[in-house]
Amino acid sequence: MDGTGVKKPPKRQEGRIILQFDYDCFYAQVFEQKNPALKSKPVGVKQKNILATCNYNARRHNVKKLMLISEAKKICPDLVLVDGEDLTPFRDMSKILFNFLRSHSWNGKAERLGFDEVFLDVTDIIEYNMFCLNRASMAESFFYLSKKDPELGFACDLTSVAGCVVGVTPDSVDLENPIYLRHLLGSHLAQFLRLKLEQDFGYTSTCGISTNKLLSKLVGSKNKPQNQTTLLAFNDEDIINFVDGHKLRTIPGMGSKITHLLESHILSKELDKDSGPFDSLVTAREARLHPTISPSFLETLLGGPGAERGIGSRVWGFLHGVDPTEVKEASDVPSQISIEDTYKGLETVPKITEELHKLSCSLIRRMRVDLVILDDGSDIPGSRKWIARPRTLRLSIRSWPKADATQPQNFGRVSRSGPLPNFVFDLKTDIEEIAQQLVAEALLPLLRRLQNEKGQTWNLQLINICAANMVTGATGDKTGAGRDIATMFKKQDEVLAPWRITSDDTDEDEKIIGNELENPLSEDSDSDISWEATDNSICTTCGHSIPSFALSAHSRYHELGE
Ligand code: TTP
Ligand code: MG
Repeated sequence: MDGTGVKKPPKRQEGRIILQFDYDCFYAQVFEQKNPALKSKPVGVKQKNILATCNYNARRHNVKKLMLISEAKKICPDLVLVDGEDLTPFRDMSKILFNFLRSHSWNGKAERLGFDEVFLDVTDIIEYNMFCLNRASMAESFFYLSKKDPELGFACDLTSVAGCVVGVTPDSVDLENPIYLRHLLGSHLAQFLRLKLEQDFGYTSTCGISTNKLLSKLVGSKNKPQNQTTLLAFNDEDIINFVDGHKLRTIPGMGSKITHLLESHILSKELDKDSGPFDSLVTAREARLHPTISPSFLETLLGGPGAERGIGSRVWGFLHGVDPTEVKEASDVPSQISIEDTYKGLETVPKITEELHKLSCSLIRRMRVDLVILDDGSDIPGSRKWIARPRTLRLSIRSWPKADATQPQNFGRVSRSGPLPNFVFDLKTDIEEIAQQLVAEALLPLLRRLQNEKGQTWNLQLINICAANMVTGATGDKTGAGRDIATMFKKQDEVLAPWRITSDDTDEDEKIIGNELENPLSEDSDSDISWEATDNSICTTCGHSIPSFALSAHSRYHELGE
């Protein structure tokens, strides 16, 4: 179809309603919750010598995300700096808020993107409420949150869309129009959920309401913070009118690589990616209407080794606000659990052993929180069981060479894996004791396998231990696995109750890797955020250690010359 270079507009699905939540200045809010006195002050969250984020008080003083601390302090001397190096409290809070949002999904399509964005496909809830709608008394409507329990829901005034609207002016719309009704109901559900996030957890957020992930994300960013925006669009033209004015780079899914290639083509010159201003020069409209641009042309321009098949049609779709990507169903069990910490150079085996012991304690503790549930079927009250068991133990290290090293050295991470011993699953033995055995019998042997020469001295910068290769239903009760997981999910909600963010292990640099949080809107690693699978990278411009997910935004900061 694309081989002809025909510029056929892509086909659009309009039946879905997708909500995109983005918490306001997320890391800063986590600190404000712990210490409410911060709410009235300008607050910056510090990672190395940049601001990971800052609250809106600080933004009013022109302090910006990813600004250098020195610069932020110059323009806002009262800025209160808090240390955001340890991601654990952000990860824990993110999980709690996500579990809350997700508990409102009927179809399970709830997807977390990074720590602070959530997509919910609420099409089925909206359809049901359309069916129940009493058009004679829209002002006194009731929104049903359950099909089974008619009392579960909230009262709402459906005479107007909740929050802000972009696109078509709602005054002139027909109350019988299903597209309008879907958006109207979506906006009220979004408002209810945002209010609950604020009242029950203390977090304000922004939300976008539209028919696909691209549009809900794009429209959600229109009114920040603490607000929501519905894109009211009835046909292809309405959608195109909305997307047209956006710079290519601001369109979700258009990573920097795609933008760069497209802009270089449209402007007929090779743009210097590295010295740029990073900001997009070309609008979606200019790209869409450019005489040479068609799905087949885009396939040729953007395809090639490593590119995804069908990239041409996908980007052609993006330019028209079309994005068929589904909101992924959340997985209850992480595919792996990993704990890591960084060091200034661990040299001796006793020191390394001590650190391995600490990391092992955290790993076992985390495994017991995430993978163990109460065993309802057991005769012994209070007995617990594993609902998933990792099979593999992986040890990864980063070791920097000594100044006098003569051998070529590996600066990157190196890993060795082996089977995770069964004694780890013994719930009756103390964590400390299991950790000791794990270090002696599994981790030190893996470490020895990483040593490339006899007598080599270590200079460890990072140690990561990871329980991987998760097998669910490993209790042998295969049919019960789903039920077990559902129970665990409920239990986790209790365990991770909002007021218990600070568990006894929050001071450790823990990460759960592998909830497969990659960004489905993007084929481009630039915005491919797998927050929990992150590894810090060194910025080549300023030399700071930045989580990989943040590196592109951080480079953008340099590229803007700020
Ligand atoms: P964002 O949603 O981009 O920022 P935010 O929530 O702080 O602010 P906004 O109100 O504009 O949504 O990112 C979420 C969190 O991720 C943020 O609080 C800090 C962290 N983060 C980084 O650590 N590095 C980065 O480069 C970016 C962009 C965010
Ligand atoms: Mg945010």
